[in-house]
Amino acid sequence: MTAPINRAACAARDAADALAAVRDRFVVPDGVVYLDGNSLGALPQQTPGRIAAAVEQEWGQGLVRSWLDAHWMEAPARVGDKLARFVGAGEGEVVVAESTSVCLFKLLCAALTMQAGRSVVLTEEENFHTDLYVAAAAARISGATMRVVPRARLHDELTDEVAVLLLTHVDYRTGFMHDMPAMSDAAHAVGALAVWDLCHSVGAAPLHLNADGADMAVGCGYKYLNGGPGAPAFLHVRTGLHDALRNPVPGWLGHAEPFAFEQTFRPASGLRSMVTGSPHVLQLVALESGVDLWLDVDMAVVREKSVALTELFIALIEERCAGMGFSLLTPRDPARRGSQVSFRHADGYGVVRALIERGVIGDFRHPDTCRFGFAALYLRHVDVWDAVQAIVEVVGAGAHLDKRWAERAAVT
Ligand SMILES: Cc1ncc(COP(=O)(O)O)c(C=O)c1O
Repeated sequence: MTAPINRAACAARDAADALAAVRDRFVVPDGVVYLDGNSLGALPQQTPGRIAAAVEQEWGQGLVRSWLDAHWMEAPARVGDKLARFVGAGEGEVVVAESTSVCLFKLLCAALTMQAGRSVVLTEEENFHTDLYVAAAAARISGATMRVVPRARLHDELTDEVAVLLLTHVDYRTGFMHDMPAMSDAAHAVGALAVWDLCHSVGAAPLHLNADGADMAVGCGYKYLNGGPGAPAFLHVRTGLHDALRNPVPGWLGHAEPFAFEQTFRPASGLRSMVTGSPHVLQLVALESGVDLWLDVDMAVVREKSVALTELFIALIEERCAGMGFSLLTPRDPARRGSQVSFRHADGYGVVRALIERGVIGDFRHPDTCRFGFAALYLRHVDVWDAVQAIVEVVGAGAHLDKRWAERAAVT
């Protein structure tokens, strides 16, 4: 017989947690259980000092000399190389740039140029809306068409007209995680390129981009990577495709010799040709700080803890909130789950808002999804217990039905 789960049992698990000390490397406000690190990651303790040094010394004192002396110019490639180690790619295969949306647009245009003669971008209805908008625009500009189908039909729709299969690895709403090697293989079997959006998987699950057949990928820096609000994104392209890359937004910093001021674009070699304009230096400092933290931890240990936290949350909600109107939206199979758990609830918006008022911060996704992220670097098992306790009390007292939640805020 297994022992009942209670707060003391959760505390015992925390005492045995190999990652317990990593929590101290983050700012976690008192009285807050933060279950939204899948939207905006927490602030690493070392980041304010690094930003202050970049502002006061590199910018304030170094001025324009810092492009060279503080290595600002190399930051997109330097941080990209650190990320490459983390996502299972090689040196020179990842670069930091702009937002995920813009990176995706650039990659899709480049992929469609490579795949001349093929006319379809295939993706799933469940994909994040920015991916759908960006892919539609890239297809239109490239003279291709979009084929948007339910997830269950992806295999049937993978025909030899498909130039690109575009998938988000972990579904932002449900937390469903695709089988990357299987889907990449399926794309390759019909001659399509496999392009992956890693926004909800980088830092949530181990990634092996090259081994798992990713041709190209994008991911964002402000969720599990803890790079701060508006952190730049990253893009990945496997080396074998570099020579064929054509940046649809060619800019001076993707030129082979930016300071030659030539009138026509001559691409730099490798992924540097995908850079467009000046790097976002201060945001890169914050992102690099977040990425450096990841390089000190073992992703296999993080994954094990992430699975334990999500399993615990599901078990506690189903046991302690039975009859309160929650239904699980996230796959039960941990192999098919990212690092989040979503429950549907008819008054889900009110549930999330009432919880936030009590310091338990999750988020809400239209139309009825309460979404809870489990960032294993700074969450404890007792946090899971306390979050479920808060849900029991909020719904038990009817606080989620307060008329203040009748209108939705601009950010949910
Ligand atoms: C799966 C996915 N793709 C893309 C984006 C958009 O990223 P960005 O704001 O960096 O363009 C998000 C944002 O949350 C996302 O969840």
